[in-house]
Amino acid sequence: MTLNQSFLTFASAMMLVPGLACAENLIVIESANNAIVYDVADNNRLYQRYFGKRLQNKSDYSQIPNGPEALITHGMEDYYEPAVHINHPDGNNSLQLTYKTHTTSRLTDGTEQTVITLADPVYDDEVKLVYVVYPEHDIFKAHTEITNRSNKPVEIEKYASSMLHFANGDYYLTQFDGDWASEANASETKLKFGKKQLDTKLGTRADMFCSPFFQLGLDAPAQENAGDLLVGTLGWTGNYRFTFEVDHKGQLRVISGINPYASAMTLQKGETFVTPEFIFTLSDSGRGTASRNFHDWARDHQLYKGNDTRMTLLNNWEATYFDFDEEKLKRLIGEAKELGIDMFLLDDGWFGNKYPRHSDTQGLGDWQETADKLPNGIGALTEAAKASGVKFGLWIEPEMVNPKSELYEKHKDWVITLPNRDEYYFRNQLVLDLSNPKVQDYVFDIVDDLMTRYPDIAFFKWDCNSPITNIYSNYEKMNQSRLYVDYVRGLYKVLERIQAKYPDLMMMMCSGGGGRTDYEGLKYFTEFWPSDNTDPVERLYIQWGFSQIFPAKTLCAHVTTWNRSTPVKFRTNVAMMGKLGFDLKLDDMSADDVAYCQRAIRNYNALKPIILEGDQYRLMSPYEGQHAATMYVGKNDGNAVVFTFDIYPRYKQEIHKSEAIVKLNGLNPQARYRVTEIDRQDGSDQSVGEFSGEYLMTVGLPLFTLNRLNSRVFSVDRL
Ligand code: GLA
Repeated sequence: MTLNQSFLTFASAMMLVPGLACAENLIVIESANNAIVYDVADNNRLYQRYFGKRLQNKSDYSQIPNGPEALITHGMEDYYEPAVHINHPDGNNSLQLTYKTHTTSRLTDGTEQTVITLADPVYDDEVKLVYVVYPEHDIFKAHTEITNRSNKPVEIEKYASSMLHFANGDYYLTQFDGDWASEANASETKLKFGKKQLDTKLGTRADMFCSPFFQLGLDAPAQENAGDLLVGTLGWTGNYRFTFEVDHKGQLRVISGINPYASAMTLQKGETFVTPEFIFTLSDSGRGTASRNFHDWARDHQLYKGNDTRMTLLNNWEATYFDFDEEKLKRLIGEAKELGIDMFLLDDGWFGNKYPRHSDTQGLGDWQETADKLPNGIGALTEAAKASGVKFGLWIEPEMVNPKSELYEKHKDWVITLPNRDEYYFRNQLVLDLSNPKVQDYVFDIVDDLMTRYPDIAFFKWDCNSPITNIYSNYEKMNQSRLYVDYVRGLYKVLERIQAKYPDLMMMMCSGGGGRTDYEGLKYFTEFWPSDNTDPVERLYIQWGFSQIFPAKTLCAHVTTWNRSTPVKFRTNVAMMGKLGFDLKLDDMSADDVAYCQRAIRNYNALKPIILEGDQYRLMSPYEGQHAATMYVGKNDGNAVVFTFDIYPRYKQEIHKSEAIVKLNGLNPQARYRVTEIDRQDGSDQSVGEFSGEYLMTVGLPLFTLNRLNSRVFSVDRL
C-alpha cells in the first residue's frame, strides 16, 4: 500500500466514527507535496481524515472517509495511549475535545499556520492544535497549547505535542541509540501489535542513550532513495517520548512530546501550557529526500545563523587535556595559524583558584582564570589570537558545579540535590537548578561577564556533562514534578538573553559528547558536538546517523589522534564531511601530514559552499559493508564533491563489481561533468574523466579500492 492509499484501511476502520462530514468541514494543511486533512464530524469532534501525498484537487479529500479522532484523550471511548490527560479538581479526569474554531494564516516568513481550537463541553479546558508548514521544504511543525479556562487549577498529566495516525500494511521503525562515545547507531524494527516507546529521562539533555528523532518506513523498510517514510523529531532539550502503538486493527498511532514521566504540571486559572514542536516530514522517495528536506529547512528557518558559513577550528582538548599553560596555548594558537585554521578553541581546565580545575573532580562553577596556569588571563590569549589573525573561542559548562568548588560552598541552595540523602555524582558534578530565576541570572552572568571582559571571544563551546541527578529542586519545593520542564524552559530563557545581547556569538552545543542534539537547542547554537569518539571509522557511522536530520554545517567533526592506525588523510576526509576542526598538536603529525593538512584545509575552504550549503546524498552506507560514500551537490553551480572510504576490505578479496562502483546522485543527467580526484596526499590532482550526469548516476564509477583505511575525494565539476 502506498501513502495515498492508506485511507482505505481507515475506511474499513471507521465504523466507530459517527457521521460523515461535509466538504466545508475539512481543514486542509498542505505543503508542496504532502497534506494533512482533518474533519469536523457531525458530533463536532475532530478526526484525522488523511495524511499523505497532496492531492491536486482539494475537493478529492472530501471523498476520503474519516480516520481516528485527531487527539486521543484520557477517559473517553478509546482504549489505547492518550495524547492528552487532564485531571480536574472534582476528581473527574476525563477530557472530551470538541471543535470550536480554526484559522489559517500566512506568516511573513512564507510559512502557513493553522490553529484548530478544541474545547471540552463540560470542563473549561481548551486545547489548540497548531501546525506551521514550510511548504517548499515539506516540513511540518505541530504543537499543542493547553489552557485552563476554569477558576480552579487543573493538573495536566499528559500533554503531547502531536498525534498522528497511520493505516498502512506494515511499519518499520528506525531508531538511533547508543551511549557515550557511540551515539546515533541506526537500527530498524518492524512494529507489531502493542506499544514501542523511545524516551529519555536525562533532564538536562534529550540524548545519551537515544537520539530524539526517528524514521518510520510505511509499508516497507525505508531505503535511501525509495519508499514512503515519516521522519520526526522533537524540538526539546530535555526528556522526550515518542510512542508508537499498533492497535488491534493494525493502525499505528504516533504520539510525540515531552516525556510526561514524573512531570505532571499544574495549570492555574487562565494559564496556558505550550508544548514543544514536533517537526516532521513525509517522503515518498526514501531517507535521502527526508534528510534534504530537514537540512534545507534547518538552514533557512531553524538553525542559528543557518545560512552563514562556519569557522574551522583548532581545539586544545585532546592536544593537552587539563595540562596546559599560557605558553603551550600560545604555541597552539601559532599552530592554528600555521595550518590555516580560522579559530582557536580553549577547552576545559582554564578556571578555578581555590580548587583549580586540574581534572574533572573540582573547580566547576568558579569561572575565574586559574592564576598559576594563566597569570595574564584569557586576555593574553585573545590578544595572541588577534595578533595571529585567528579568532578565539572558549569552553564553558555554566549549568554545572563540582561539590569541590567555591560556588557549591556559597550556594548549595542553587544545586539540584536531595536534601536528606547522600549525594551521588555523574562525572563528579551536580546540576544547577535552572528552574530558579536567580540561577538563570547567574548562568547568564557567566557569559555576560566573560564577554564584557573579553569582547574578542567569538565563540563558546557550551558543555553539559551531567544528566539531572539527585532529583530535587530546592526552588520548586512542593512542585517537584515541574522540575524537568522548568529546567529546560530556564535554559532557553538564558540562551534567549545571550542571543539578544550577543547576536554575533557562535556557539557549539555539547553534552558529554552528543547528548544535546535537538532542533530547539539549535535555535541558539550554530553547531553541535556529535560524539567524544573521534575515531574516524566510528565517526563514519556516527555522522551517518546524525546526517539523517542535521545538515553538515551542524556536525562538528575533528581530526584527532584517536585510532592512529588511520592515515591523517582518512581522518581529515571524514571530518571534512562536517564542520571541520582539529584537536591535536603539530607534533602529533609528520611534516608530510602537516603539509597535507594545510592543503586539505584550503580545499575544505573552497568546498565549504558545496559541503555546508549543498544537497547531501548518502551513496554507500558503512552499515552495508566495508565501504562508504557521501556526496554533496552545490545549490548554485551544480558542482559536486564525493567522499569515498574503504574501511577494512578483506585481504586480497576480489572486489565485486557492484561493490566497487559508486553511482552518483543529484546531478543533471543532461549536463557533462569533469571528475578529478583531489585532496591527494602528495598534493597532485588526478583526472578521472569527463562524463554525462546520466552516466555518473546510472553507470557510476569504480571509486572504491581494496586498500584498508583509504579515503578519496573527487571533485565533480559541471562543464
Ligand atoms: C566533554 C566534551 C569534550 C570536552 C570535555 C571537557 O566530555 O564532550 O569535548 O570538552 O567535556 O571536560
